[in-house]
This record gives sequence, structure tokens and C-alpha cells, in this order.
Amino acid sequence: MNKILIVANWKCNPPTLRQARQLFGSVKKGLSNSKNKKVEVVICPPFPFILNIKSEILNLKLGAQNCFWEKRGAFTGEVSPQMLKDLGCQYVILGHSERRRYFGETDEQINKKVKAALSANLKPILCMGENQEQRSQGKTKELLEEQLISALKLDLKLKTKILNLAVAYEPLWAIGTGRACPPKEVQSVNLLLRKILSRKFGAEKAEKIRILYGGSVNSKNAVPYIKEAGSQGLLIGGASLKAKEFLAVIRKLNR
Ligand code: PGA
Repeated sequence: MNKILIVANWKCNPPTLRQARQLFGSVKKGLSNSKNKKVEVVICPPFPFILNIKSEILNLKLGAQNCFWEKRGAFTGEVSPQMLKDLGCQYVILGHSERRRYFGETDEQINKKVKAALSANLKPILCMGENQEQRSQGKTKELLEEQLISALKLDLKLKTKILNLAVAYEPLWAIGTGRACPPKEVQSVNLLLRKILSRKFGAEKAEKIRILYGGSVNSKNAVPYIKEAGSQGLLIGGASLKAKEFLAVIRKLNR
């Protein structure tokens, strides 16, 4: 049985290394002092902090928020999956809506990143979701299908690594707005994504790929996504920047 995957997406926070160390230290301490049997926690800090935070405890892993698709070369400003792996990252968030929106990442580029991450034995957390307009027009499912299928165009060799993948459903209108998506809606998206994954990789494998929910998750609303909507994890932005709040989510999921 896979553990529940709780991913902290720190985004472009906190502003200093001292604060990053403090935040990570508090999470690490909180986790070492508690019984954390059911949850695998991944912290995704900004690139410059990755090397400075180390986890020696089980169930607390490191991830990055993005990566490039080439291994190395003349690509100013980019960071390769191999570099992240070398620094001890196990996971990488890919296709986050903020990357798509502010940096123009396309489905095609996200597909290249997913392939590069899988090849480097990093575990991609592939994000997707609809915006408010697409939602009002009833286009959510069509869009998710498109995003999922294009990101997962893989050759046979990479298909064998598909269990390293996690998919995160993050409706854009729910991110950072305090308007979390109702668990009932997340449940129906989970069923759809699982169906598409089954069609692509077979039911047995699809069952083992974790599907996460993200968008204004906090300690008060987290549990129903796991217990009712059938998500196998959560991607947490704002609430992951407060150690107490983040630890409260994990504590509730361990009950
Ligand atoms: P939020 O962000 O929890 O602040 O809504 C989630 C995300 O963007 O991953």
C-alpha cells in the first residue's frame, strides 16, 4: 500500500536561507517527534536552498519545483534532473500552473520534462487543472484529459517507470484563493484521471499511481480529500510555509 503523499510547494519562499533552514528544521523536528506511519512528506524548496537542507529521517524527502529537459549544456539559467538527483532530490514538481501561466510552459515542454525526470529516476509530480473560465464553460474534463495525455506520451522504456509518477489535480481558481475545490468534485476528477491512466498503462499500474489534490489545502479541510474524495495525497502551497499548520495536516492524516 502506497503512503499518502504530502508535498510542500514553497514556491519562491522564504526570502532567506536562514528562514528556509528554520522552517525545514521545525518540520523535521515535528515529524521526528511524532508517529508518522501513513504519510510520506516531500519538501520542495527553491533551488538555492536544496543543498542546505538535509533530511536524515524516514518519510521526509526532498523535491524541486521544476527542472529542465536536457542533461547539460549551453542552457543559461536551467537546472537538469541529473543535478537535482545529485543533490539528493527524489521528486520534482512539473507543469505547475504558475509555470504554465507566467513562464509559458506548454504541454509539449512539460512532456519533455516528464520524460527527462523519469529517465533520471526522479519522481515527477505532474500538475494540471482548469481555470475559472474553463470551469464555467464545462471544459474541465476535456482539458484535464488533454493535459494528462500529452504530458504522458512516453516510449516503452519510460513506461516501465510509470509507478514513479504522481499526478496532482490543482484547479487554478483554488490555488492561493482560500476557495478549495469541494471534495465531491475532486472525487469525480480522480475517477476520470484514474480511468485515463488505466487506459494508458493498464488498471493494475494505474491503481498504484498516486493522484493528489492541491489548492488552498489547510489543516481544517485536508482530511476529506483523502478519506472521501479518494486522493492519495495533497500538494500544499501557502499552508506549507507555516510549520505548525503543515504539521497539523500530517497529524490529522495519521489518525
Ligand atoms: P496553495 O497552493 O496551497 O497556496 O493554494 C497550492 C499549489 O499551488 O501547489
